[in-house]
Amino acid sequence: MASIMSTVTLSSILLIVLLSSSAANAQLSANFYANSCPNLQTIVRNGMIQAVNRERRIGASILRLFFHDCFVNGCDASILLDDTATFTGEKNAAPNRNSARGYEVIDTIKSNVEAACNATVSCADILALAARSGVVLIGGPSWQVLLGRRDARTASQSAANSQIPSPFANLPALISSFAAKGLNARDLTALSGGHTIGFARCTTFRSRIYNDTNIDTNFAATRRANCPASGGDNNLAPLDTLTPGRFGNNYYRDLVAQRGLLHSDQELFNGGSTDALVRTYSNNPTTFSADFAAAMVRMGNISPLTGTGGEIRRNCRVLN
Ligand code: HEM
Ligand SMILES: *[C@@H]1O[C@H](CO)[C@@H](O)[C@H](O)[C@H]1NC(C)=O
Ligand SMILES: *[C@@H]1O[C@H](CO)[C@@H](O)[C@H](O)[C@H]1NC(C)=O
Repeated sequence: MASIMSTVTLSSILLIVLLSSSAANAQLSANFYANSCPNLQTIVRNGMIQAVNRERRIGASILRLFFHDCFVNGCDASILLDDTATFTGEKNAAPNRNSARGYEVIDTIKSNVEAACNATVSCADILALAARSGVVLIGGPSWQVLLGRRDARTASQSAANSQIPSPFANLPALISSFAAKGLNARDLTALSGGHTIGFARCTTFRSRIYNDTNIDTNFAATRRANCPASGGDNNLAPLDTLTPGRFGNNYYRDLVAQRGLLHSDQELFNGGSTDALVRTYSNNPTTFSADFAAAMVRMGNISPLTGTGGEIRRNCRVLN
């Protein structure tokens, strides 16, 4: 009897330990490849240095790829799978088609990683590391990337269409799409600072610059010059008017001045619950950097495949 009791007690303690570790995403760890691929971080950083030297925007593009990967069934490299005759993936979902970019950069890094450590490192982890390097290389904060994700054996175009937030969304919709991923309004506000870099196509902000009333009139006029009421859908404008090539807090200064490019951007400073935090970030780059870095770690923890789940893809574009 006593031994049955202690077995029950022991197994419930074990269960509690297992449950609490999975809640804290303890299955990912910073040193996951320390023995199996010791040069991993250097290889990824070198790949990103080359890519950013070729084209500065790529830091932004890779950061966005990581966001769009994590928001669709977790950070599992599902976004990297190519469509085939029998397989429909996420690349041609509405939020990605004609705008998601940087896939070749991940391919190059992946082949360098394979050359150093065959069949060991997931595409999902390479994307997580590349996103961090991209941000650091253009002047942003650093953070410790937790590793040990595995690659999905599937992808979902419909989940990409429904779970990646829309640039036409209002604040409650943005808050709830982040909440669905375990991220709160502070994470939403900090991670939106990703728009301190990179560009958006006219089609994503046309209705804002022609129809929104919470917009600086000079700014709207300037943007209309390169985004006609019809046509020019793919014409680009910087998401951050002041310093689109350097990671910093100017995005929030734009919002305070009603110069957010996307309708969804300006929703973060439009009389609602996130106004105060936007103002704080606009005045305090250190607070923004710290919150952005912490929120990137939380975003990277969204539903990873670990252990024997998924696979380590040999080529990020196709299943093994
Ligand atoms: C809050 C909800 C968000 C919405 C509605 C949104 C929407 C968009 C849209 C519409 C674009 C332009 C795409 C195009 O031209 O078709 C864009 C670009 C971008 N987004 Fe977001 N985004 C959001 C959050 C984020 C987050 C959390 C990050 C990263 C942490 C991020 C990083 C970027 C970057 C870096 C670009 C520029 C990419 C490039 O130049 O290649 N976005 N976003
Ligand atoms: C890499 O590993 C795979 C499977 O483990 C093997 O088939 C392949 O030959 C290896 N390639 C190299 C270059 O070692
Ligand atoms: C602006 O709003 C009007 C009225 O709702 C609509 O007809 C028009 O298409 C909108 N223009 C743009 C560029 O979204």
